[in-house]
Amino acid sequence: MNRSELERVARAMVVKGKGILAADESSGTIKRRFDAIKLDSTEEHRRSYREMLFTAPGAAQYLSGVILFDETIRQRTHDGVPFPDYLAQHGVIPGIKVDAGAKPLAGFAGETITEGLDGLRERLVEYRKLGARFAKWRAVIDIQDGIPTAFAVRANAHALARYAALCQEQEIVPIVEPEVLMDGAHSIDRCEEVTDQVLGEVFGCLAAHRIYLEGMVLKPNMVISGKQAPEQAPPEQVAAATVRCLKRHVPPAVPGIAFLSGGQSPEEATLHLSLINQLGALPWSVTFSYGRALQDTALKGWGGTPAGFAAGQQELAKRARLNGLATLGRYQSGLESQAA
Ligand code: 13P
Repeated sequence: MNRSELERVARAMVVKGKGILAADESSGTIKRRFDAIKLDSTEEHRRSYREMLFTAPGAAQYLSGVILFDETIRQRTHDGVPFPDYLAQHGVIPGIKVDAGAKPLAGFAGETITEGLDGLRERLVEYRKLGARFAKWRAVIDIQDGIPTAFAVRANAHALARYAALCQEQEIVPIVEPEVLMDGAHSIDRCEEVTDQVLGEVFGCLAAHRIYLEGMVLKPNMVISGKQAPEQAPPEQVAAATVRCLKRHVPPAVPGIAFLSGGQSPEEATLHLSLINQLGALPWSVTFSYGRALQDTALKGWGGTPAGFAAGQQELAKRARLNGLATLGRYQSGLESQAA
């Protein structure tokens, strides 16, 4: 393992002013996104959509990296350039989702374990040859009465650490993503309690598995009210609770934290990130690794038609720019009304 190379890439992924575009939707997820714009999920539609995103004028300057799906890392622009090569040529680091999804955890009703460790070493070798310099693995923790159990939290943290160790062995920076879902009617306090528990287990397992912390990126949820909670904590409270919780668990050796958006609206996700970055000197670089919060408006603007290609690109560039400002704590909601 070349530690200095891992650290160099991890730092580049979380450089101030930029963030990560999560475009690694699995086949099932991208079909749901396309259903919303009444578009068939064919391989060519998926390719064309990703080309629209990756070639958007004015977006790359705010993107440090893009997370790809197995199909996407093998696809090309319409004029034949493999997507990972195109991204690298434009200063954007290609990454790859390597988990096989969250599956029911046998014996623990309502809980999941993320699969994908079998054969992972060999897959990482191939992905590195295809151009990937970082990877992503997402553990999913749901909040319900009596859930999560300590066992499910530990099992998921253990899998994350095994994945991270294999990535670093192959000189690929692991994005470690333990997502506490915002689905449900729970309070922000309950989210903080569970996120505390999850991050505690994750960093305990990462230490036990000898992960080189300087060569990884954490992708957590923000500490936030459940979507159906009758009382929604204001943005300043989300920012304060999130930073408090992260400070308890994330060693300063970790170069950066790149949040998932998790179902927040694009504007909320940007505002929260900016407020977090206004909370004084943080020990890590704090940025975004958004899927829906970067893509929702671009997908609608595109609409699956060649005529919408440029409109979709403008929407992506706008969200990338506003989130880039948020990494510097310089976003204000008044900026939303400016032209894309
Ligand atoms: P969202 O920002 O839509 O939550 O997606 C980020 C991601 O990569 C989830 O794994």
